[in-house]
Amino acid sequence: MMRGKHIVIGVTGGIAAYKSVYLVRLLQEAGADVRVIMTAAATRFVGTETFAALTRHDVAVDIFPKSGDEISRNWTRHIQWGEWADLLVVAPCTANTLGRIVHGITDDMLTATILAARCPVLLCPTMDGEMYKAPSTRANLQKAADFGFHLMAPGAGYLASGLEGPGRLPEPVEIRDKIVELLETGVKPSRSSADTDKPANDNQDSMVGGSEDSPAGETKDNTVGGILNSAASDSGTGPLLNRKVLVTAGATREYLDPVRFLSNPSTGKMGCAMAQAAHDMGATVILLHAAAVDLSRLSASIDTLTFESAEDLFEKVKKHSGADVVIMTAAVSDFRPASRSEHKVKKEEAPDSLTLERTPDILQWLGKNRRAGQVLIGFAMETQNLEERAREKLLKKNADWIVANNLREEDAGFAVDTNRILLIGPETSHHVEGSKKSVAEAVLRAVFAR
Ligand code: CTP
Repeated sequence: MMRGKHIVIGVTGGIAAYKSVYLVRLLQEAGADVRVIMTAAATRFVGTETFAALTRHDVAVDIFPKSGDEISRNWTRHIQWGEWADLLVVAPCTANTLGRIVHGITDDMLTATILAARCPVLLCPTMDGEMYKAPSTRANLQKAADFGFHLMAPGAGYLASGLEGPGRLPEPVEIRDKIVELLETGVKPSRSSADTDKPANDNQDSMVGGSEDSPAGETKDNTVGGILNSAASDSGTGPLLNRKVLVTAGATREYLDPVRFLSNPSTGKMGCAMAQAAHDMGATVILLHAAAVDLSRLSASIDTLTFESAEDLFEKVKKHSGADVVIMTAAVSDFRPASRSEHKVKKEEAPDSLTLERTPDILQWLGKNRRAGQVLIGFAMETQNLEERAREKLLKKNADWIVANNLREEDAGFAVDTNRILLIGPETSHHVEGSKKSVAEAVLRAVFAR
């Protein structure tokens, strides 16, 4: 995957520095030649020897080598390493290093190399939740975004401080996947402002054209920019800034009695991906979800509320139907038992057949009662005639967009982490496939590119 690629990993002084050791191993396993630069603070968490032994390269910390001999040979090491790298990754990237990078302060080997590097730079901001949300960090993330650095949004959850919130370094595997994505898509050089100073052909190897599979006709780099905004989303950036977005996720349950229900296999993964993508684009998100949906990877600032039946979901959707955007990802049962027994029905007393009645069609109600300017995105689960049936739903439900999945396709539909969808608008349609996360981001980019 990465054979022959040169990757410089910058490690800064946070408890997550230990994860960088695993990251180095993963990159080497994928065939990359890895060098490590540590800040002085990082060496308090992990020893330089660990990385030196793994990478079989010197680990750089100081910008100036120590002995006289080395100085004459090596004082431009930050320039050489910057030239050597195909990609530079700072993981973890503390608030302090982030601040130094975006203000051009080059008081150590890492920040000097980043300033000198011509390759793309991926920053993985990692810090305590409150530090992450602090105005100075938010402004620095925005600056990093403006300068064209690639950003990987931190995870939310329990932090080393004992507090909970956004700020965790993503798992090494996730960072490795992100690196693969950046290398495979041939990302643009990170710092667009520096491009004007370079000979034109300097950029050629690493440029991508307009990406054909990008529904909005945007470049892959903008795709990354969307993700980049995700890191800064608490900082109030992105195309959905100040927009209220309502998302529904998971399967409804229609109980026959206290222990039996009609439902479907939806796990709510796609709905969560839509909620996270909207949040990452700056939206204020409320997620209505089935109780069984796994919310552990969602940003802490997404508001969540559970639902059970279609009727329950309908009532909750109505309460929040003033949102600027409604995304109906939930797999809503179309039928419910006409009656529900208060007590568990003994099998001897069970009827031979069930009488069903229709549940409310929530998306159709939204389509009829929409307010001006509201954007309605529905989903469609089909097993045949995908486009035709999804187009019918678009019209029947008066939605703006339908995200259609074919349940018969591999790597798509219920419970898996990937999806293959056809995004259908009144005039256009786009095929998108990939992880549910990337599909969700692509859908929102396509919809809000207009
Ligand atoms: N939907 C809804 N209320 C329902 C059924 C579905 O709001 N009672 C929404 C879903 O959340 C989805 C869209 O309508 O966004 C299409 O759902 P789908 O199950 O594919 O289609 P149905 O309208 O239920 O039609 P059918 O089952 O006949 O294909």
